[in-house]
Amino acid sequence: IRTIGVLTSGGDAPGMNAAIRAVVRTALGKGLRVRGIRRGYQGLLDEEIIDYSARDVSDIVQRGGTILQTARCEEMRTEAGQQKAAAICKKYGIDGLVVIGGDGSFMGAQKLSHLGVNTVGIPGTIDLDIACTDYTIGFDTAVNTAMEAIDKIRDTSTSHQRCSVIEVMGRDAGYIALWCGVANGAERILMPEEKDFDEKAIIADIHACKERGKKNYIIINAEGIGDSINMAERIEKATGMETRATILGHMQRGGSPTCKDRMYASMMGSIAVDLLVQGKTNRVVGYLEGKYQDFDIDEALAMKKTIPEYQYEIAKELAL
Ligand code: F6P
Repeated sequence: IRTIGVLTSGGDAPGMNAAIRAVVRTALGKGLRVRGIRRGYQGLLDEEIIDYSARDVSDIVQRGGTILQTARCEEMRTEAGQQKAAAICKKYGIDGLVVIGGDGSFMGAQKLSHLGVNTVGIPGTIDLDIACTDYTIGFDTAVNTAMEAIDKIRDTSTSHQRCSVIEVMGRDAGYIALWCGVANGAERILMPEEKDFDEKAIIADIHACKERGKKNYIIINAEGIGDSINMAERIEKATGMETRATILGHMQRGGSPTCKDRMYASMMGSIAVDLLVQGKTNRVVGYLEGKYQDFDIDEALAMKKTIPEYQYEIAKELAL
C-alpha cells in the first residue's frame, strides 16, 4: 500500500472528523501518501480528490460534521458506478480506501474490494444500527444532545402538566429512543422494534399516571414509528391532557463530539490504516465484547442486531 484514500459517506456523525484525523496522521506516520475524497462516493465519481498533510487535519478533532463533507450516492449502487469508482481509485494511485459510514457505505467498499481496491470500513452513524459493533461513531454525541433537549422539554412540560411526544432519529432502529427513554425517565418509549404498541393502552396509562400524581407524561417516539404530530392530537383528544409534539430532527446530528466519540473514532481510524498496511481488504472495524475487532464486510453485513429486550423492560419498570 502506498496511497490511502479516506471518505465519509451517508449521514454525517459527530466524531467523523476525529476518525479522518486519525486515518491521515497514522498513514502519514507510516510514510504513506493520503488523499481525502470529498462528498463520499459522489465526490469519488466526480474526482474531488485532494492531498492531505498532517496540518490539514489540525483543529478538527473537536468539530462536528465532517470536513470531507458527505453524500448519499445512487450511482455507486450500480455496477457501472462501481467500475468507474474503482478506475478512479487506480487513476489516483489509491490502493487502500477507508470508508467511514453505515451499512450502505460498506456495501460500496465491498464492491470496490472485489474490483481490486483494498478497503476498510469504520462504523459512522448516530443510529447505532450496525450489527458487528456495540459502538458507532456519533451515537454517543447524538444521544447526549437529544437527552439534553428532552430535559428542557420536560421542564416546560411539567410546568404546564402536559403530555409531550418527542420524536428522535434512528431511521429503522430504536437505540436513540431507548437510551433517551431510560436517561430522561420517559413514561413511554416507542420503537420500531416494538411496533405492536397499543395507543389505547397509552391513553389508559396517562390516566393512571395522573391518578398516581404524575405531573406530566413524556413519550419518546422513534422516527421509525413517526407520526408524532397526529399522535399528539389523538392523545389530547382522548385524554383531555394538553399534548405537544416536538421533532428533534437534525440538531441530533450536529455539535462537538463527546470524549467517547473522539476516543473511539481515533482508535478506529488508526486501526483501519493498520489493517490496510497489513494487506487486509474487505474488512470493517468494530468494537464488540469489550475490544476492537475487525470483520469481513460480507460477514458483517449478514450479522443481525437486536435491541436488548431487558433494557426496554427495565425502562418500563422504572416509569412507575
Ligand atoms: O442515518 C442517520 C440519520 O440521521 C437517520 O437517523 C435519519 O433517518 C436519516 O439519517 C436522515 O437522513 P437525511 O439527513 O438525509 O434526511
